Amino acid sequence: MADVEGEDGAEPEEAYSAEPFVPRRGGLTALRKAAAECRGCPLHREATQTVFGEGDAGARIVLVGEQPGDQEDRRGRPFVGPAGGVLTRALEEAGIDPDQAYVTNAVKHFKFTLVPERGKRRIHKTPNLHELTACRPWLGAELRLVDPEVIVALGATAGKALLGPSFRVTRQRGMLLPCPAVDGYAPSGECLVATIHPSAVLRADDREAVYQGLVADLRVAAELL
Ligand code: URA
Ligand code: SF4
Repeated sequence: MADVEGEDGAEPEEAYSAEPFVPRRGGLTALRKAAAECRGCPLHREATQTVFGEGDAGARIVLVGEQPGDQEDRRGRPFVGPAGGVLTRALEEAGIDPDQAYVTNAVKHFKFTLVPERGKRRIHKTPNLHELTACRPWLGAELRLVDPEVIVALGATAGKALLGPSFRVTRQRGMLLPCPAVDGYAPSGECLVATIHPSAVLRADDREAVYQGLVADLRVAAELL
């Protein structure tokens, strides 16, 4: 990548990559341990800790979110905040056992801005394409080790991380899509289902309708199991 000025006005981002930090051998435990030390992009500087994926290496379904939120950042675990509550309920309603899923994020550090006038509240900021690309080797390594039957992209950012920047959640949600190629992990066939991010339910005026849409998309994934 050429010298690209960061959207945040900072330094060039051409060298951002988690690649040098990803161990060549070992299982999920080794990956998680190494990811705790990742300095592959600037997001580690402000965040509390790496929030790595969680679940069984034998999981048949992998759920991919965007990035940890405020609570996930503090607790070091994915989807333990409000969006996680929506996700757990929707999975159960769709007939997917949340305990049988491997849950992770496209980006492993929390990106935020501080809002001083609101008691220094940390407000989520969407990761940019450089950060998504930098963090993708972790996602590829997780997918290689778990090698699930079904992958669910939760929201536009996860969809872009898995399928590329032209992904559009409004157009591609709720249908069976080709398996993604992620950093050397490239299974054949169709195994990907995209849906909205569960936090979209919390932001919606018509929460129930948006929630039912999420459940309907997850049912498409459930049918593959
Ligand atoms: N939103 C996400 O995308 N991931 C989390 O882990 C929490 C909230
Ligand atoms: Fe590494 Fe990803 Fe964290 Fe960036 S966001 S430092 S690439 S783990």
